[in-house]
Amino acid sequence: MNIRQAMSEDLLAMQNCNIMNLPENYQMKYYFYHALSWPQLSFVAEDHKGRIVGYVLAKMEEDPEEAPHGHITSLSVMRTYRRLGVAEKLMTQAQRNMVEVFNAQYVSLHVRKSNRAALNLYKDTLKFRIHKIEDKYYADGEDAYAMRKDLQTTE
Ligand code: ACO
Repeated sequence: MNIRQAMSEDLLAMQNCNIMNLPENYQMKYYFYHALSWPQLSFVAEDHKGRIVGYVLAKMEEDPEEAPHGHITSLSVMRTYRRLGVAEKLMTQAQRNMVEVFNAQYVSLHVRKSNRAALNLYKDTLKFRIHKIEDKYYADGEDAYAMRKDLQTTE
């Protein structure tokens, strides 16, 4: 498994992976927006044949009222490649570049309350904490946990 920075040629495969694994899908222009604005923050995992089997799509939030911080827009790994540490590696790379390139103070994300696998990944493995609950955040009415991880303190 190879983890590398996403390139514009990867965006279609990332979109495909997203469609296969998550109900929250985005137009291609939103992928380009990420890749063109913050090329250092999105990563892909490819198998030995160079096929994209996972991705993290990430950005910086641009609210001048708040400290600079990164945001994980979307993360997914194809079913047969799960539980191999791929998501953890993708997230770690994105977080590192948020700090090194953009001096991010923290990283945020939203996750469905019912998404046990992702919650375990974020809480237990990556040490995010629940910042707040956003009622009916998703189109189908499910609540989200808004989660955050401080990127400036080393544990
Ligand atoms: N059940 C319980 N805990 C899990 C599971 C699971 N199915 N999957 C991962 N974890 C936890 C475990 O603690 C695991 O460590 P362990 O294997 O040593 O026990 C840890 O997360 C790290 O797991 P990884 O192998 O790095 O995770 P993986 O590559 O399998 O990807 C992911 C996890 C991304 C949640 C995957 O299951 C997936 O693609 N799911 C569908 C899409 C999705 O839910 N994406 C996240 C939405 S939120 C967002 O995009 C911001």
